[in-house]
Amino acid sequence: MDLMEAIKERRSIRKYQSEPIPEESLQKVIEAVRWAPSWANTQCWEVVVVRDHKVKSDIAATLPKGNPALSSMTEAPVVLVLCAMKGLSGYYQDQPATIKGDWLMFDTGLAMQNLCLVAHALGLGTVIVGMFDHKKAEKVLRVPQNVEVVAMTPLGYPAAGGLTPKRKEISQFVFYEKYGAKDKR
Ligand SMILES: Cc1cc2nc3c(=O)[nH]c(=O)nc-3n(C[C@H](O)[C@H](O)[C@H](O)COP(=O)(O)O)c2cc1C
Repeated sequence: MDLMEAIKERRSIRKYQSEPIPEESLQKVIEAVRWAPSWANTQCWEVVVVRDHKVKSDIAATLPKGNPALSSMTEAPVVLVLCAMKGLSGYYQDQPATIKGDWLMFDTGLAMQNLCLVAHALGLGTVIVGMFDHKKAEKVLRVPQNVEVVAMTPLGYPAAGGLTPKRKEISQFVFYEKYGAKDKR
């Protein structure tokens, strides 16, 4: 699949078939995480693969009732939870190297995008889920103190496609030479 096609056609999938996914596909999706870029190659990400129905239900219970991804957490055969080790990304000699502090959100975001694109290329659906009670999820998964849960996604064969939310026009978010300048020359 052409990269631009994959980028444009990937959608957030919120309806899943219960059919299991091939182990080979799961490994490819994880391999995509492995090759994501990261701050000084620190690779702060860790992934919890959840297949057990009870654990999926406990994870689903950390989402607010109004989260549109709620049912997908138990429908899909797999939930992948992206965690991150704190104090690695964006740090130099144990001190934050920039005013941004820990860059773990950035690096796990890159890893998640890799994951979602490769899943899509394999015919699998994902939806990034960020709106949940992170502390509760950390308890459910017994995540240690030096690690935090960042985001998660169900993974499985889509039962329905996703709508395509509109994107801004390029002219709305690109400036030239200085912020706010729209003149390309
Ligand atoms: C950081 C992040 C958190 C998100 N959290 C949720 C969520 O909690 N529930 C949900 O249904 N979708 C969530 N989404 C999916 C977005 O709503 C979706 O990506 C956006 O509407 C664009 O749609 P598309 O992915 O189909 O292009 C999240 C996306 C990102 C990047």
